[in-house]
Amino acid sequence: MATQVTSISFNRGVPCVEAFPISEIQECAAAILAADAVTVLQYGKSAGYMPLRETIAERYGASSEEVLVSNGSLQIQEFLSTFVLRPGDTVFVEEPTYDRAITIFRRHEANLIGIPLEPDGLDIEFLAARLRKVTPKFLYLIPDFQNPTGVTTSLSKREEIVRLAEQYGFWILEDDPYRPLRYQGSDLPLMRTMNPDRVLHLSSFTKVLSPGLRVGYIVAPKRIVEALAKIATDTYVTPGLLAQDIAYEFCRRGWLEPNVERLKGIYRPKLKATAAALREYLPVADWVEPEGGFFIGITLPPAMNAANLRERAEKVGLSLSDGRGFFPQGGGERFLRLAFTGLSESEIREGISRLARLVSH
Ligand SMILES: Cc1ncc(COP(=O)(O)O)c(C=O)c1O
Repeated sequence: MATQVTSISFNRGVPCVEAFPISEIQECAAAILAADAVTVLQYGKSAGYMPLRETIAERYGASSEEVLVSNGSLQIQEFLSTFVLRPGDTVFVEEPTYDRAITIFRRHEANLIGIPLEPDGLDIEFLAARLRKVTPKFLYLIPDFQNPTGVTTSLSKREEIVRLAEQYGFWILEDDPYRPLRYQGSDLPLMRTMNPDRVLHLSSFTKVLSPGLRVGYIVAPKRIVEALAKIATDTYVTPGLLAQDIAYEFCRRGWLEPNVERLKGIYRPKLKATAAALREYLPVADWVEPEGGFFIGITLPPAMNAANLRERAEKVGLSLSDGRGFFPQGGGERFLRLAFTGLSESEIREGISRLARLVSH
């Protein structure tokens, strides 16, 4: 009799369901609807729910006019692209980078240039050489626990990148949704704090509360927030205010930090299990051990069999991402992004042992 093979997906960077603080979110929603339902059930300001804008501003040492809250941070990437990009404009990205960001910039017909990522951030010499030829509209990067590699940009590279942005006059789009989920080591300064006029900072409640709420934000100079708010007005009039008020109420009650600590307790062992299984089953793969976040990116050595890997993996109940999607200018055939947060430790171990068997012959 055929035994049932459980399907394991390393493909989706999603929280596990235990991550959701369901009863606390229920309590916040009930309190909001009891106290002031009409405010959040009505149209409001396109830049978002003011108490949440103020809360975010306070956390970043900014003013509420420098904060726009939208339906997820990807929506803001789309707005920014509409505001800044014209067909043929150049955008620099880390290589590899977040596949959905590539999709958005491409949709705006940007000329994407990948800057190779090293274990401590961008290859600065490569970046400087590119800048001598062309100035991008912006450089998009994910400085903490990068999607898809898990790499964190070092302090000296953050400083150097900001210095180059000042010298050449381009914006840095600092996309940092994983930053609160640091499982070891200590925080490095945000690039925004090094130059708030050059660095546009994006983040989100997706990874610390829930993706389904769709609450993401940007902290940026006032004139940029105003331009994005205009695009938001023309797109949807008002973002989802009930969700934004839930995020606000969650923060107001002081529940966000304890929730982040709880999430770290859930995810830290999963990261450790992934790293341990890689050391045991795939010791020759190339990867950097992340200090937080959702992902480990691995590169298989040429001696391993990466041909038709996703198709072969599906047959043994393993779902893998297509590494090529993270490389804007080709490549990535031997690259895999392992998203570990949605899996149990035993699924992670079993999944990596299945992967090792597939690539070993
Ligand atoms: C780097 C990065 N930016 C943005 C997002 C999307 O965030 P949001 O749910 O706020 O749109 C993700 C989600 O996977 C991400 O990895």
